[in-house]
Amino acid sequence: MDRIRLVGGNELNGEIPISGAKNAALPLMIASLLTDEPLVLVNVPRLADVKQLERILENHGVDIAVHGRRRGDTDMGGQRITFTASDIVDTTAPYELVSTMRASFWVIGPLLAREGNARVSLPGGCAIGTRPVDFYLDGLRQLSAEIDIDGGYVVARAPGGRLKGANVRFPKVSVGATHVVMMAATLAEGTTIIENAAREPEVSNLAECLVAMGAKITGIGTERLVIEGVDKLNGAIHEVLPDRIETGTYAMAAAMTGGNVLLRNARPDLLQSALDVLSRAGSDITSEEGGLRIRRNGNGILPVDVETDPFPGFPTDLQAQFMALMTRSNGVSAIKETIFENRFMHVAELARFGAKIHVDGQTAHVTGVPELKGAQVMATDLRASVSLVIAGLAAKGETVVNRIYHLDRGFERLEDKLSRCGAEIERIAG
Ligand code: UD1
Repeated sequence: MDRIRLVGGNELNGEIPISGAKNAALPLMIASLLTDEPLVLVNVPRLADVKQLERILENHGVDIAVHGRRRGDTDMGGQRITFTASDIVDTTAPYELVSTMRASFWVIGPLLAREGNARVSLPGGCAIGTRPVDFYLDGLRQLSAEIDIDGGYVVARAPGGRLKGANVRFPKVSVGATHVVMMAATLAEGTTIIENAAREPEVSNLAECLVAMGAKITGIGTERLVIEGVDKLNGAIHEVLPDRIETGTYAMAAAMTGGNVLLRNARPDLLQSALDVLSRAGSDITSEEGGLRIRRNGNGILPVDVETDPFPGFPTDLQAQFMALMTRSNGVSAIKETIFENRFMHVAELARFGAKIHVDGQTAHVTGVPELKGAQVMATDLRASVSLVIAGLAAKGETVVNRIYHLDRGFERLEDKLSRCGAEIERIAG
């Protein structure tokens, strides 16, 4: 299993290109199941999760073509990929393919909407809480689907072969349930209103793509989406938006090490709450043509209290990275996780660097220390893994991060991007 070895202490200086967002690319790829015409996606990141979803889509009969030359190692540009689901050959998403990635469960929406039936294994994914699928299933039931659980599979059927529009109100904001019900509603008979919809930029990115495919959706970017079902969707060309979590992660890495980094292609409007927090923590952040610049020269890291929230609040996917930063602040900060009930697995690993963190229920109290020391640590989930890299960048001596397959799921060429800015970091194969 690959590992990452790094030696901390260097400032980050230079440019980091921000890739297309994983959390937008995945639902966009799944939307290709809604039409028999080609869907061309631009700026698709090169990630293990994208590859895995390609396998799942191919199993349903989607033809996938990556355009142009396969780019070499030095090219950071995103991929342009055409997905054509002329015929859905199989409406089952099997356990072997679905169990490693929760988002693959989302195929249930388009399969049910287009084919009138779907059989999808209950999902796996990061171990950051129980992550049930009750909102998805209740939402689809509202759209008239009949649903059974059989042998670990969700078996869903639309009576008469077509879903019916309905009013759906989610009890809590859910990104995935919003994606699924919105996709399903595009081909349903009649109008669907989704209330308490997720407003995450990735939801809007998917909604805009669906509109380009002929869907009738209003209220995009608000908590009330109105979807008027149509008989058929067409192909489209659509661009994956830049990854706000990758942006925030590198911004926190630069805030941690000090230096001056331009995050190329980053869009500040996608993560304003996190940028505000970083400014309060002592970094200087400016928008400029081509991206976002972050600097921290000389001044220390200030403690800031943070609570995760659905968009536009502080994202849960940046909580671990921010905690890593706070381990070096010159005071005490409280970090409250409100989205997932078990998202503090990185605390024990950060402690291996000498961090002082005390967890009390959903809140972690972090007392900054003057120095972290390099350590052997273990990646536990996607975002937690990268928090260990951030800690390692500032720690004295050598750090080895084990089990980095989690990192490869969501961060494109992390070690390349960081080493180009002066970090001493390498991947050790095997
Ligand atoms: C997505 C993101 C993930 C991010 C999360 C929250 C992708 C691929 N993943 O995950 O990176 O951390 O949003 O921003 O985009 N819930 C239920 N029942 C349900 C569905 C959700 O109780 O049926 C709960 C979850 O347990 C959690 C909360 O709702 O407590 C929010 O989860 P949700 O927004 O659905 O997360 P995902 O879509 O899985």
